[in-house]
Amino acid sequence: MFSGERAGTVAALVRDAALLDFPAGSRVLDLCCGPGLFLVPLAARGHRVTGVDLSPAMLRRARAACDAAGADVTLVRADMLAHTEPGAYDVILNVFTSFGYFADAADNLKVLRNAHRSLAPGGRLLVDVMGKEVLAGWIGRPQAVDLPDGSVIIQRDTVLDSWRRLRTDWTLVRDDTARTASIHCFLYSAAELHGLFTEAGFDEVECFGDFDGGPYDQHSKRLIVRGRRPE
Ligand SMILES: C[S@@+](CC[C@H](N)C(=O)[O-])C[C@H]1O[C@@H](n2cnc3c(N)ncnc32)[C@H](O)[C@@H]1O
Repeated sequence: MFSGERAGTVAALVRDAALLDFPAGSRVLDLCCGPGLFLVPLAARGHRVTGVDLSPAMLRRARAACDAAGADVTLVRADMLAHTEPGAYDVILNVFTSFGYFADAADNLKVLRNAHRSLAPGGRLLVDVMGKEVLAGWIGRPQAVDLPDGSVIIQRDTVLDSWRRLRTDWTLVRDDTARTASIHCFLYSAAELHGLFTEAGFDEVECFGDFDGGPYDQHSKRLIVRGRRPE
């Protein structure tokens, strides 16, 4: 999930992708920044960058990555369910399926309302998830990834609650031991996530299938929804 290979892909995205092309000096919040793969390239483009995450371990990794790159980035430990900084940002990113984590649907809507509040008028929120329509095309096939140390990670997905939610189980098999971790998250179709953005107060809501601004259709790998806080 946070491999060196992905770091290179993210750096190229931030450099080239149309949806990530903001005026230099923009105030950008990476909400659920994880180990900071987006933070360093965003700072390198001259933006004023903040990363928020709940996990101290992730924030430590993000701090190490920013320090190693000499990137001046503010890091904040906070829960996206509560975090707001009224009017503080031009852009808020929530990427790589960092949305839909709360068991109560109203709480996920609250995350969008919080982001709306933290944007300056005219500012934009981008949420990047695996769309329900895309997931339906490949779900059910267990996926295995071989790690350099010889261990294997197996991912299995289970659809829950009539396609409202998904459980993902990761099993790490190392030597003769196996450990499993699971997360649950809501699944959204393009229409559903578009509707949530509108309910949270965003206008100019659009759905894309990639960060280049391609359409969300049967060829898409991701669902990216972008909305604007009205002026
Ligand atoms: C799938 S990872 C994505 C990380 C990063 N956006 C990326 O592209 O690599 C999701 C992140 O959300 C963070 N997270 C989970 N629940 C959170 C919450 N309630 N508030 C803030 N961050 C949270 C996790 O710690 C994790 O770093």
